[in-house]
Amino acid sequence: MIDIIAIDGPSGVGKSTVARRVALALGLGYVDTGAIYRAIAWNAIKNKIDLSDETNLYEKSNNIQITVTPLDQFAKQQIFIHDTEITLAIRTPAVTDATSIISKLPRIRALAVSLQKKLANQSKNGAVLEGRDIGTVVFPDAKLKIYLDASPEVRANRRMLELKQQGYSTNLKTILDQISVRDERDSNREHSPLKPADDAVTILTDGLSIEDVVNRILMLYQSRTEKQHE
Ligand code: DC
Repeated sequence: MIDIIAIDGPSGVGKSTVARRVALALGLGYVDTGAIYRAIAWNAIKNKIDLSDETNLYEKSNNIQITVTPLDQFAKQQIFIHDTEITLAIRTPAVTDATSIISKLPRIRALAVSLQKKLANQSKNGAVLEGRDIGTVVFPDAKLKIYLDASPEVRANRRMLELKQQGYSTNLKTILDQISVRDERDSNREHSPLKPADDAVTILTDGLSIEDVVNRILMLYQSRTEKQHE
């Protein structure tokens, strides 16, 4: 089996930035599992599929072809559905909201998980996957499981900066409310709720820089690798 690093945690905690840097530092593949759910939601909106009709949504999502490019030197990756690039389109607030709804559906989760495994297994050296259920469901045998956490206020501030950079005007209170709704949905859903795996290392990132978090993960990975070779 290839080496897998699972990075789970709530939205806005910085998983994506950290996971990309870890993948680049170690020469591993990178799978943004949220992007798969987002792509399915984008496709559903585009084709006006009723999000609450799981059977129809599954049938219309089953044969969409999602492809991702490897990370470039700026840690960027492009995402396509068939020939249409959706890298930025899947980040809009409307898609974010729809994603949170469709990711509750068990058949959609099964579809997304099988695609995530396929993408990870394409990387011969191994892969870093970030999401909510990587250590608990997608790769329960991952070599290293990290659970990133941060207080809602810190996450809301980071998210506000991100949205500003993308040209959206918003305020902290709105973002805090959105984060609390998404946390509630992610943590309390019946299927694959967000929670740390029993054997995950939790890193509370309040007050830590991205560098600090990446270095901690690289050290943990190194020590797991040394143990494996003992
Ligand atoms: O990480 P993100 O913000 O791109 O995730 C988008 C949505 O997908 C979010 O509502 C949680 C959900 N998700 C999930 O349920 N399981 C994953 N492994 C990744 C994301």
